[in-house]
This record gives sequence, structure tokens and C-alpha cells, in this order.
Amino acid sequence: MAAFGSVFMPQMALTRFEQGAWSTPQIVPADSISLHPGAHVLHYASTCFEGLKAFKHSDGSINLFRMEKNVARLIQSSELLSLPQPDAATLSQMIIDIVRQYASDVPEPPGSMYIRPTHIGTEAAIGKAAAPTATSMLYVLLSPVGDYFAGGSKPLRLLLEQNGARCAAHMGMVKSGGNYASALQPILKARASVQADQVLFCPGGDVQETGAANFLLIDGNEIITKALDSSFLHGVTRDSVLTLARDMGMIVSERELSVAELLERAAKPGTEAALSGTAAVLTPVGTLIADGVEHKVGSGEAGPATLKLRQALNDIQWGKASDKHGWLTRI
Ligand SMILES: Cc1ncc(COP(=O)(O)O)c(C=O)c1O
Repeated sequence: MAAFGSVFMPQMALTRFEQGAWSTPQIVPADSISLHPGAHVLHYASTCFEGLKAFKHSDGSINLFRMEKNVARLIQSSELLSLPQPDAATLSQMIIDIVRQYASDVPEPPGSMYIRPTHIGTEAAIGKAAAPTATSMLYVLLSPVGDYFAGGSKPLRLLLEQNGARCAAHMGMVKSGGNYASALQPILKARASVQADQVLFCPGGDVQETGAANFLLIDGNEIITKALDSSFLHGVTRDSVLTLARDMGMIVSERELSVAELLERAAKPGTEAALSGTAAVLTPVGTLIADGVEHKVGSGEAGPATLKLRQALNDIQWGKASDKHGWLTRI
């Protein structure tokens, strides 16, 4: 299987915002758009996107996972970036239409169709550094993906970054390209210096998230993760895993978690940690590196609670367990 997200379906769904209104969505070739070199997005980063998946069940049906949540987050990101407001019903229909078109290309589990709605400011206006774009483009790209764990789910090594932040504090809840650009140098340095897989951003000792996933600590029957605020992305997988944890009778603590508490709890034998995200699902974390010292999380291996929660989530996505929270949209 090719690298995650490097293969695209040849067509996408697209609508444009021009003269104050959205055009009727169309299905167009995925490589058909052109942009003026002065487009707002290319200079002032007026861009946001989403990532969700469609799953094929054994009865052949295609099912979108928590589409409403992703649509709502794209609308929220658009608002916080002063982009035109997409319409939830229209965007949902665009997603359904393009996935239906490629229903036969949705891979069997453990693969899926990764869906990437993207919204960009298109106005050719390099004088608008402090003004919103008047025009935009919203499109839905599709990329068939395999199992993220194809190389085995080896527990990750995370470098704890206690000085720098992933992005500006008020931008964390916006799923915008600039935040990923901002996190890239710390991630590359962490890879080169301590062979870390990811950076866990903990500005001032506040445990937030990694470059592309949320962070969960599991200590016995309790699952601890940062309470929602504007500083980090409100992951749909995070919300789903916490819901499943509650269903299993676990105590869910959404609150501040300091690096000191994290390291203290990680030193206990049964402690587990994991990253949650649409791509990673729930990936175990085995090692935390803080101030040049390596700390194992519990045994340093994938723990039973992490594997059980991941299985419970996959079972719903793959249609092997009942969808009691109504998370799937069958199309
Ligand atoms: C910065 C960041 N945090 C968290 C997540 C997890 O979000 P979700 O579970 O909605 O995929 C992502 C995933 O895209 C992300 O990029």
C-alpha cells in the first residue's frame, strides 16, 4: 500500500463562494483547479481542512464515521479564520455524493476511504493581510488508505516540549495548515536529536497534544486528558474513545494534566498512554522523553486498555458491533 494520503481518487466534489453566494456543488477532476499566484490562501494562510473516514462493512454497505462532527468543525474553523461560512447540509451532501461515486474503491477493513474536505481563500489580493478573502473554494478529496498499523503498532516515543507551543494559543482548535507548519521544526528536531516519533507539546508544563493527534493517559480505571479549550484540536476520535471508555465503566477525567503528574503516573507499572486521531485511531505510547531523560510509560508496551478501546472503536467503524451512539451514516 502506498504512503498514507498519497493516492487520490480522480474526481472531487467542489463548490465556490463568489459574489456572496455558494455555487451549486459539482464533481470535477481532482487536478482541475487553478489559483491566481496572489490568492489569499497562498499568502495569508486562509485555509482549513478536515479528515474523516468511510468504512466498508461485510454487507457491502459504505458508512461514514461521525461526519456531522467533522462538518461542524470545518464550519467552526472557517469562522475562526474569517473564511465564508459553508452550509452544513451542502457540505454533508458533497461528502456523500463523492464517496458514493467511489463506493467500489473503498478498501476493505482494515483499510478505509480517507475524506479530506478543504476550504481555501481564493481572492487574488496581496493587500489583504488584515482583511478576509471575498471568495473561496471548498472541495472534498478522497484518498483510499490502508492500515495505519501496517508496520505493527510499535509503541511511540514522544519528546515532551515544555517551552514552545504547537501553535498560537487561540488557534489550536482551528484545523488549519499554518498550525502544522508551525509544529514542523520542533518535530524534525525531535526526530533528529532523540529519535522521537512525535512531539508532545506541553507549554509551561501543560500537557496538550502532539502534532497530529490528541494525548490520553490511562491509569488503572481512569482515563485522563486535557479538558477542551481553544489551545488544542478537539479530536473526534478523542470524543469517541472517551465515550467508549465511559460505556466500559471507566472514569473519564477531562482536566489539566501537568508534566510532573504525567511522569509520576507513567512510572507506575500498569499505566498506559495513547495518541488518538482519525489516522492513528489509538496508537500506544511507550516512552516519554523529558529534559533529556527517558521515562517508560508503564511496561513500555501496548497496554490492554489501549488495545480494548481501539478494538471497540474499530468494531463500530467496521460494523462488527452495534452503533449504539448513532455514529455511522450509511450511504
Ligand atoms: C493537531 C491534531 N490534534 C488532534 C487530532 C485528532 O483529531 P481527530 O480525532 O478528529 O482526527 C488531529 C487529527 O487530525 C490533529 O491534526
